Amino acid sequence: MTQDAGAHQEPAWLLRTRTSYDIDASGYAERVHGLLGARSDLRAHLDVFAEFVRRDGGGPIVDVGCGPGYVARYLHDAGVETFGIDLAPEMVTIARRDHPHIHFRQGTMTDLDLEDRSVGGVVAFWSTIHIPDDSMPHVAGEFFRVLRPNGCVLIGFHVGDAIQHSSTGYTGAPISVDTHRRRPGTMSDWLREAGFRIEWESLLRPDDESPGALVLARRP
Ligand SMILES: C[S@@+](CC[C@H](N)C(=O)[O-])C[C@H]1O[C@@H](n2cnc3c(N)ncnc32)[C@H](O)[C@@H]1O
Repeated sequence: MTQDAGAHQEPAWLLRTRTSYDIDASGYAERVHGLLGARSDLRAHLDVFAEFVRRDGGGPIVDVGCGPGYVARYLHDAGVETFGIDLAPEMVTIARRDHPHIHFRQGTMTDLDLEDRSVGGVVAFWSTIHIPDDSMPHVAGEFFRVLRPNGCVLIGFHVGDAIQHSSTGYTGAPISVDTHRRRPGTMSDWLREAGFRIEWESLLRPDDESPGALVLARRP
């Protein structure tokens, strides 16, 4: 079958996101180094997620937008086979360097290079924050497609309503990336529309300037 060349054209926002994280990979990795050690709330949610995946059919788990790979490492150490996919090749290089026993590769959640029903868990920690609203139903559909029935998706994100544009990375280098803050109910509605059932919506540090949320959903 011949492919329509236009079908593979990368949207400008995706190209900007990839380029920005390639430029800022080392700065970002340094910034989040040791984060899970300091965040028992995140660890607690990851522990329950790992338990659900183990109990309800096993892995693998795919860490989508894995960045430097510490979430994949945590889940792997919790006893569930886990691998990571990230848009930015420089992030993949850092993840492989820091966790050489775990598989990481380049890819995008907008077009996952995974077979239908091939994974037991999808985790996306603060990575869908770079997907515009109008592409989120498609991304939720990708998560649903690759999960086996009874598999779970866990999505972490910044809470709010605004889109924040960043033009300077953690290293001080120029970047250009948008961060989309969202209400937990909005995320849950995208997941429901894709076919998921919501297991929980957690609001983290609601009194902070930048609260977070975790939504866990199951493919029936
Ligand atoms: C804020 S970082 C989060 C990294 C890591 N999950 C964490 O919690 O520290 C966002 C990550 O998502 C990746 N990303 C952004 N858009 C993506 C996409 N369409 N597909 C896969 N990864 C993406 C970026 O390259 C970056 O590594």
